[in-house]
Amino acid sequence: MGATTIAVLSQKGGTGKTTSVRTLTDVFRRIGLDVLAVDLDPQGNLSDYFDVDPEATPTIADVLTGRAPATQAVHDDVLPANLSLAEAELALAGKMGRELTLKRALKPLRDSYDFILLDCPPTLGLLTVNALVAADHALLTTEAQYFALQGVEQALEVIELARDGLNPDLGWLGVVFNIADMRTRHSREAYDSLREHVGRKLLESTIRQSIAYAEAAERAVSILDHRPDLGADYLALADELLVRLRRPEARERLKALTGT
Ligand SMILES: Nc1ncnc2c1ncn2[C@@H]1O[C@H](COP(=O)(O)OP(=O)(O)OP(=O)(O)O)[C@@H](O)[C@H]1O
Ligand SMILES: [Mg+2]
Repeated sequence: MGATTIAVLSQKGGTGKTTSVRTLTDVFRRIGLDVLAVDLDPQGNLSDYFDVDPEATPTIADVLTGRAPATQAVHDDVLPANLSLAEAELALAGKMGRELTLKRALKPLRDSYDFILLDCPPTLGLLTVNALVAADHALLTTEAQYFALQGVEQALEVIELARDGLNPDLGWLGVVFNIADMRTRHSREAYDSLREHVGRKLLESTIRQSIAYAEAAERAVSILDHRPDLGADYLALADELLVRLRRPEARERLKALTGT
């Protein structure tokens, strides 16, 4: 069995992937689940959000190039990345089985965790493909704009490619409507039109837009502590995901945490 692995991706930048990975990791840890957060972006934002020492080695780049086992690259339950990952991706491109590298590398860690969350870079390239091959489920994030639909469709195509080829069991966890201002008609209409296109894949929980997210990231604190009123959006999202993942026992613990 082992950890349930979830790839968080989007075709574009700035859709809140890293914030989602960070915050869902926080929620799941607070209900007693063991979560490994994996940074697959050479920007290293997730590693920053978790305040991993920028000098920490080895990193995911060493793991993907075979220089270190994944077990050695975990620092406080985060597998960090930095710019060296860009070089590692290029090196990986010429290798046999390049799409399977992450899946193979994570194997020794799977029994130590309940969840492994993969934070993808803002491209649908080899690193994201590796994430989709290693994952049990894909979770898409999208910003709350009309033009976001196109990005969602492109990401859906890549997910279908992974399913047709290297990972037929890849599940579809859903699309998160992120950084939203549902008070505006624009956001509500964008939500409805996305719903028409992707149906039930669109999650009902939406994440409200707030400057508090940038503040929380800067201070490397969780939005759950920085602004619990906003963090409630992620608690609702986590609950909806746990329904889809069929984890009733975890949902019970989440209920206890939120006192509902
Ligand atoms: N709900 C929100 N409301 C407002 N700003 C947000 C929200 N969530 C995230 N942000 C901010 O938006 C920016 C992008 O967020 P984040 O880094 O999570 O996106 P990303 O999809 O991982 O970006 P990239 O594609 O560059 O990796 C950050 O400055 C973050 O603080
Ligand atoms: Mg990111």
